[in-house]
Amino acid sequence: MATLRTDRYWVQPVVTFVVLTSFVAYASWAAFVNQNYFVGESMHRTLISPFYSPCLAASCVPGSHPSTVISWWTISPALLILIFPLGFRMTCYYYRKAYYRAFWLAPPACAVSDGHGSYSGESRFPLLLQNAHRYFFYFGLVFNVILTIDAIYAFRQPGLGLGISVGTAVLVINATLLWLYSLSCHACRHLCGGGVKQFSKAPIRHKIWKMLTPLNGRHMLFAWLSLVFVAFTDFYVRMVASGAIHDYGFHF
Ligand code: FES
Repeated sequence: MATLRTDRYWVQPVVTFVVLTSFVAYASWAAFVNQNYFVGESMHRTLISPFYSPCLAASCVPGSHPSTVISWWTISPALLILIFPLGFRMTCYYYRKAYYRAFWLAPPACAVSDGHGSYSGESRFPLLLQNAHRYFFYFGLVFNVILTIDAIYAFRQPGLGLGISVGTAVLVINATLLWLYSLSCHACRHLCGGGVKQFSKAPIRHKIWKMLTPLNGRHMLFAWLSLVFVAFTDFYVRMVASGAIHDYGFHF
C-alpha cells in the first residue's frame, strides 16, 4: 500500500488483528461447547460465565438461573444471548475503526492508501446497520445489570454462607470493566449531553456529561480491557467448573 510513512504503522493493525481473531475464536468455542459455565452448590460457589448469563434455556445447568424462560431452545444457551454483546461490540465506534483498519485495510493507518479501489463509507447495506449501535447500547446496559447481579451472587457460598473468593473478585472486576466500557461509549455521552443548546439550562445533563467525558477519552482502553477480561472470566469459571483449578477464598 502506498505511503510515505517510514515508521512501523502496521504494528497496531497487526496486533488488533491477532487479538480480535483470538477473541472471536475463543468466544465461539466457549459459546458452542455448552458445558463448564457454572460453578454451583457442589463446590460451595455461585459463579456463572458472562457468556452464558442470563441463562434462559431449558438446557441450563440447574442453579445457573432461577427458572427456565425459553423451553424450546435445546442447543447452547450462550447462542441465545450472544447477538447482544456481539452486536454492541461490532457496532462500537472504536472497534469499527480498529477492525476496518486491521481486517479491511480501509485504510490500515493514517496517511496510508486504502486497500480498496472504491469507498462507500457506511452509507450502504450492510454497513448501514452500524447505525444500530445506540440500540445495542441499551441492550448492553441490561446485560451490565445482569452481570452485576451475578457478581453480587458470587458472594454467596451455598452451604457455607457469604464469602469472597478469587471467582468473586473476577466477576466483580468483569462487571466493573463492562460498566466502564458502556459508560465511556460515544452514544452514551451523546445521549446524556448531546443536543443541548445551552448547558446552563440543563445543569443535570451538564454534570453527567462532565462526568462521562473523561471516561469517553479512555474508551479505547476500556474496550480492550473489558474484551480481554470477559474472556478471562469465562476461562476462570470454566477452569473451576471443570475441576482443573480450585477457587480459593474464605467465608464469614
Ligand atoms: S462507541 Fe464503543 S461502545 Fe459505543
